[in-house]
Amino acid sequence: MVEVIVGGGIVGLSVAWRLARAGRPVTVVDPDPAGGASHAAAGMLAPVSEVTYTEEPLLRLGLASLRRWPAFAAELAADAGLPEGAGGVDLRAEGTLDVAFGADDLAALDELAAFMDKLGLPVERLTGRECRRLEPMLAPSVRGGLLASGDAWVDPRRVTAALLTALERRAVPIVRTRVTELLREDGAAGRVVGVRLEGGAELAATTVVLAAGAWSAGLAGVPVRPVKGQILRLRSPQPLLTRCVRGSVHGSSVYLVPRGDGELVVGATQEELGFDTRVTAGGLYELLRDARELVPGVTELELADVVAGLRPGTPDNVPIVGPAGDGLVLATGHHRGGVLLAPLTAALVAGEAGGEEGGPAALCSPARFGEIA
Ligand code: GLY
Repeated sequence: MVEVIVGGGIVGLSVAWRLARAGRPVTVVDPDPAGGASHAAAGMLAPVSEVTYTEEPLLRLGLASLRRWPAFAAELAADAGLPEGAGGVDLRAEGTLDVAFGADDLAALDELAAFMDKLGLPVERLTGRECRRLEPMLAPSVRGGLLASGDAWVDPRRVTAALLTALERRAVPIVRTRVTELLREDGAAGRVVGVRLEGGAELAATTVVLAAGAWSAGLAGVPVRPVKGQILRLRSPQPLLTRCVRGSVHGSSVYLVPRGDGELVVGATQEELGFDTRVTAGGLYELLRDARELVPGVTELELADVVAGLRPGTPDNVPIVGPAGDGLVLATGHHRGGVLLAPLTAALVAGEAGGEEGGPAALCSPARFGEIA
């Protein structure tokens, strides 16, 4: 019998790959592997510049997973038969520059800098002129910034493509259909023994790993909800930026992530609209309006792709990873951090990390939400 991974996004595929590398028999089930939120994501590995007041546990998880990314990317590239680094999954580590547009944004950035100082995070405060020296395409109106040089980013589409190749090379079956139900031994709270597939067929499992992102709540009682993000990709003959730029324009947040091939990803809205994945004129307008204030040259670029994905949000914004009763392991609820947290999540599920007291396993434990059935 196999371990069944429900969900073929970056988290589910990473878990499957780590288990397969450890010699465990796995099968992945997903109607659209590498689609969904992983296809939409920009790929920021930015625990420092994305830090939020009251979310220190998430920061600790993010920093722990960021440390795993270089080895994860190198091993994945080798397993998938790709060149390492830029030619592989486009892992880049030039940092994030967080910039302020208006006086209100600068005041908020000052407060954030003080908070980061208190946490001992390595950030550098820059004037507007210093920001433009680093990124000459920034608007003259940018008033100041914070450089988080430890932050990185990756191309999630390349990562999931590499994961699918690596799984194929290890002969891991990918079943392209939907799971409609978890099968349990004796009624609702019994041991999970497999999954029912769309059409009625059953797949028996020693363990089911639920990594179905925003769709997880439909299969088990996990407190996960969809948080819509609209995001767009622009194409430029030359890269416009050398590092990730995020910024606040009168309180409205936007980020710009450059790829080696000239693509510039601009994201992302945060909307609580259930399972709505429509791309809207208003969403794209707001992203482009704010991106143009920070980097006026974006309006010259070709619009290559627009997409909306659903982040799996949790009540505390921390993922839910770990055993949840007999035969069921959760790997879901990664909200804004699925790409960043994929290596750590995979290591936790594979039993390669996180057992220490107060460590990642404890921070992500499903137990914080009581019994999950
Ligand atoms: N981590 C970026 C986002 O969720 O938009």
